[in-house]
Amino acid sequence: MEIKAALAYTAGKPLTIETVQLAPPQAGEVLIEIKASGVCHTDAFTLSGNDPEGLFPAILGHEGAGIVVEVGADVKSLKPGDHVIPLYTPECRQCDYCLSFKTNLCQAIRGTQGRGLMPDGTSRFSINGDIIHHYMGTSTFANYTVLPEIAVAKIPEDAPFDKVCYIGCGVTTGIGAVIYTAKVEPGANVVVFGLGGIGLNVIQGARMVGANKIIGVDINPKKRALAEKFGMTDFVNPQEITGDLVAYLVDLTKGGADYSFECIGNVNTMRQALECCHKGWGVSVIIGVAGAGQEISTRPFQLVTGRVWKGSAFGGARGRTDVPKIVDWYMDGKINIDDLITHVMPIERINDAFDMMHRGESIRSVVTF
Ligand code: APR
Ligand code: ZN
Repeated sequence: MEIKAALAYTAGKPLTIETVQLAPPQAGEVLIEIKASGVCHTDAFTLSGNDPEGLFPAILGHEGAGIVVEVGADVKSLKPGDHVIPLYTPECRQCDYCLSFKTNLCQAIRGTQGRGLMPDGTSRFSINGDIIHHYMGTSTFANYTVLPEIAVAKIPEDAPFDKVCYIGCGVTTGIGAVIYTAKVEPGANVVVFGLGGIGLNVIQGARMVGANKIIGVDINPKKRALAEKFGMTDFVNPQEITGDLVAYLVDLTKGGADYSFECIGNVNTMRQALECCHKGWGVSVIIGVAGAGQEISTRPFQLVTGRVWKGSAFGGARGRTDVPKIVDWYMDGKINIDDLITHVMPIERINDAFDMMHRGESIRSVVTF
């Protein structure tokens, strides 16, 4: 079938709206009509050409929501008409990773997904006979896309697509890191580095589980008001304090953070996030994605004396199991998504969404079809 897609022909160039050919879903796959898609830093990272695993041409986008239109052979858990969120981290419930219950990093289709292909090793997208790569297994910058059944979460039919699409990445990444990766307990003191789309979701996750102090660290003072609305109790601008930031945070938390979260992607703040943790038990979770080739460092004594360094991908969430729960939290008013979606625009204006992200004007832009 012919579909409309924002195509990334090559790195570093704006996307172009094209008519693309989409082959029907094969066994174990579903055809989804995408209704809305968020534009995330990871899409921008790949488009910039700095992502060593980036493949072109590709249809980017990994934060979508839509409706199942057709199912391939052997699909059991989905049917046409189901409302869904695509998952760039699938959940097969059969691989060693899924069965370990120690990680959300299902490996069932890892190899082909990384090569921009469906599990059978081919692409469903083409233009004038030339192959277009899938992206993160999702390719949501198109009005129709094909996904493996194991990479689709079913959601309630009354959930608004242009809001809950954000649960496909940013919301789950932030809230999940608190709940599933760190398992923050009530009364804990939490420090959040970076108050962007990810950090604000960490803050509302910390509030939801009943954290005590929720300290936000950001060099942009304009981030303060919204972060307070989401549950931040204390704001620290590193440029406004005198002396060492780590010592300041340890003092503010009376001994160190029980949990800290790095939501910037900067290896220096990753170190600060670890070192502001409480001796003996503080846990620091890295969420931000650092530039290719960068390395973190600290003195090993920091770990010997009980601090723990962790990372979190997709918030540690098991997509098919946990994403529907997070949609319910939104529908029940337990979490706020509306205030984070600062711009909604038609797919034709998707390059504006990237520009606003680069200028720091948006928290999240959503494109609709
Ligand atoms: N110290 C403190 N705050 C900083 C610093 C710094 N050195 N550098 C940047 N910030 C703040 C910015 O002012 C901004 O508010 O970090 C915030 C980052 O927010 P966004 O740019 O909106 O990024 P976000 O979408 O939240 O993603 C953060 O997670 O998914 C990854 O690739 C993404 O690595 C990025 C990170
Ligand atoms: Zn699996």
